[in-house]
This record gives sequence, C-alpha cells and structure tokens, in this order.
Amino acid sequence: MPQRPGGVLIAREEIAGRVAELGLAIAREHAGSVPLLVGVLKGAAIFMADLIRAIPAPLATDFMAVSSYGAGTRSSGAVRLTADLSVSIEGRDVILVEDIVDSGRTVHYLRRNLETRHPRSLKVCTLLDKIERRQVELTLDYVGFVIPDRFVVGYGFDLGGLYRGLSEIRALEDS
Ligand code: IMP
Ligand code: MG
Repeated sequence: MPQRPGGVLIAREEIAGRVAELGLAIAREHAGSVPLLVGVLKGAAIFMADLIRAIPAPLATDFMAVSSYGAGTRSSGAVRLTADLSVSIEGRDVILVEDIVDSGRTVHYLRRNLETRHPRSLKVCTLLDKIERRQVELTLDYVGFVIPDRFVVGYGFDLGGLYRGLSEIRALEDS
C-alpha cells in the first residue's frame, strides 16, 4: 500500500503564527545589517517564501540545493550539493533556512561548506526539528517546531516529490 498523508500535525494558522514570530526574532537580531537568507531547495522554498515576508527589515536571498533522500522516508545518509549559491557570502551575515533537521547530516554538511567561504556570521533557521533522530551534534539558532519522529508532508515537505503544496503539515499514515 502506498503511504498517504494522514492527520494534520501542524495547522496552517499555527504555521503562520510561528513564522511571524521567527521573522520578528530574525529582524531584531540582525538590526543594522542586511542578512542573506539561504534557502535549501526544494523543501524549504515554501517556508522561505513566508519567512522573508515576515521579516520587517532589508534582507537578501539566495538558494542552494542538496539531495539526501531517495524516494523513501529514510535518508540515504550521503549529502550531495546539486545547486550552489549565485553570490559570494564573504563577510555577510548568513542565515541558512532549512525545512527540517532530522539526522542533522544535511545541515552539518552545509554549515561546514558555507564556513569555508568566510561569512561574517552563520546561523541556522529550521521550521521543524525532529530532535529524537539526531545523529550529529548541531546548534540550531531558530526553530519553528520540535516534532516527534513521524514522516511529514505538506507545506514544502514531500514524499517522492508529492504533497509539497498542502497548506498544512501532515504526518504520513502509519509513519
Ligand atoms: P537530515 O540530513 O537527516 O537532517 O535530513 C534533512 C532532510 O531530509 C530535510 O532537509 C528534508 O529534505 C528531509 N526530511 C527529513 N525528514 C523529513 C520528513 O519527515 N518529511 C519530508 N522530508 C524530510
Ligand atoms: Mg530539505
């Protein structure tokens, strides 16, 4: 049986409320600089679009793409950069914007990769944190919601490329 979206884990109003709080916190903590928000494609595209509109201050954006999952619900463990930034981050205040931190390998990899380019500061903002599944130690600067070990779809999260357009975050049935 193919797995399908089940019950709502986080409703759209709840997401919107939390994104608004994150946006204000980012603006407050970056007053006086123009941070560069780096979205991790494809999952974080929806979150990024809402987050930047919740930050009432000047900012710049760019994107990177990584691939770590196949078509299933468990990471292969190997992270691969499939699209790079289009601007230099040297001397910039960079905020990496992720959809979810699971094992932590993707953010760990991206952090190390970005640090070699000498940003002035580097922070991580993730909408979801599946903290129980962490395999590598990480500091996350902005976290939307800590969630249990369920596979989620919707609001950018996919299963084999599907369900990214759902407005709410749903757990997969039986995950
Ligand atoms: P990590 O490297 O194990 O931390 O995995 C992070 C990446 O796995 C995220 O950026 C997502 O693309 C993907 N991922 C992890 N958990 C889920 C989930 O529940 N639903 C959809 N994608 C997920
Ligand atoms: Mg992702």
